[in-house]
Amino acid sequence: MHSSSRFLCLLGLVSVALAQSTNQAGYNPRIGPSNANCTRQNYQLEITSNNMVFQNVDSNANTFIGSGANVCNNFVMYVYNDHLSTGLSEHPNDTYNVVQASTDLAIATKLLDMLKHGEIGGQQFDKVIGIGHSYGSVQIQALSATVPQMLDAVLLQGFSMNGHLLTSGAYSPATEVFPDRFNQSGLPSTYLTTLAPQTQQLNFWFFPYYSDAAFDHNRKTEQPVTQGVLFTQGGLMQNATSFTGPVHVVTGANDWPFCFNDCYAVPANSTYTSIPEYVQELYPVTSNFSVYIPENTGHAVNAHYSAPDVYQEMLAFVSNVFGA
Ligand SMILES: *[C@@H]1O[C@H](CO)[C@@H](O)[C@H](O)[C@H]1NC(C)=O
Ligand SMILES: *[C@@H]1O[C@H](CO)[C@@H](O)[C@H](O)[C@H]1NC(C)=O
Ligand SMILES: *[C@@H]1O[C@H](CO)[C@@H](O)[C@H](O)[C@H]1NC(C)=O
Ligand SMILES: *[C@@H]1O[C@H](CO)[C@@H](O)[C@H](O)[C@H]1NC(C)=O
Ligand SMILES: *[C@@H]1O[C@H](CO)[C@@H](O)[C@H](O)[C@H]1NC(C)=O
Ligand SMILES: *[C@@H]1O[C@H](CO)[C@@H](O)[C@H](O)[C@H]1NC(C)=O
Repeated sequence: MHSSSRFLCLLGLVSVALAQSTNQAGYNPRIGPSNANCTRQNYQLEITSNNMVFQNVDSNANTFIGSGANVCNNFVMYVYNDHLSTGLSEHPNDTYNVVQASTDLAIATKLLDMLKHGEIGGQQFDKVIGIGHSYGSVQIQALSATVPQMLDAVLLQGFSMNGHLLTSGAYSPATEVFPDRFNQSGLPSTYLTTLAPQTQQLNFWFFPYYSDAAFDHNRKTEQPVTQGVLFTQGGLMQNATSFTGPVHVVTGANDWPFCFNDCYAVPANSTYTSIPEYVQELYPVTSNFSVYIPENTGHAVNAHYSAPDVYQEMLAFVSNVFGA
């Protein structure tokens, strides 16, 4: 292990229905830019119920095995298929008391701590930017409030203070929606995916600004979310009263779950011009708050035609932080 001044992006790249892959459907352990030298690291997190966010956790559920993070030459990607209950990670049976948003927050906190101490990838990072998408932004936002000293900046993609329209996904048991991919004897019925391509589309996509291939790939690799996570995630958002780093929010103009399809639909007497701008009310002492709203883009920002431009904009924010 060596300490270095390398930087790290904690990519909480999480979308309820936009995971990349599964063990049953061609899990791809190699993710990351093609010019980055990434290796997959497995980790096991010891998390005990004396952590304040835990309640009623049974004694067998205190250790979670994550499938791993992709540790690259100068950053780490931690993505949705590494989360508890998805991809190759454990799929706990208790999807109410165990697999819920506060459990994911405890895991993210522990992971961040391990990264700061060089316990993953053998490299210590002294500058960390938390980057989330959707539920990942919910997690990163909560981290910036609960452990503000551990993050230098946050980039919240697919986010606002105005979520979520969950019923329109018609979330249904993954084993019924995708019987070929999810094994009924192995996965409780409380692991859910969106019911149909139509309900997936309504929530995550803005027609026709994406390719059929992107949509089909997503549908084929959609990962389940537990009822516990789905219905507790709204409770994580909190006022980051002592987070002093810069905050950048990137939300598609036509995001359904966070803007109800129109991010500019603010009350006539609002002091803000868009819904994502309200996020600044959670950051009273941020050094710089900014918003970017890509046009013709739904919630699945990363899968629309606008994605390459959006990434350039996001990378400019990241470069600015690392350059500071
Ligand atoms: C990639 O990283 C591994 C482990 O740090 C190192 O052994 C290897 O030489 C690197 N490969 C390249 C092409 O940089
Ligand atoms: C999971 O929980 C259900 C309902 O409580 C129970 O019937 C089932 O046996 C449990 N499965 C495992 C593998 O523990
Ligand atoms: C389904 O899951 C159970 C429990 O994990 C396992 O024993 C069984 O082999 C699996 N069946 C298939 C067809 O994958
Ligand atoms: C805007 O108008 C609504 C309804 O008329 C009112 O309840 C609210 O307090 C107003 N907000 C501001 C910031 O003036
Ligand atoms: C967050 O805290 C600040 C400072 O205490 C306060 O002014 C602001 O109203 C709070 N925001 C929300 C959304 O509660
Ligand atoms: C504040 O953020 C905006 C948008 O990311 C950026 O253009 C600007 O340079 C930042 N200001 C400072 C002082 O860093």
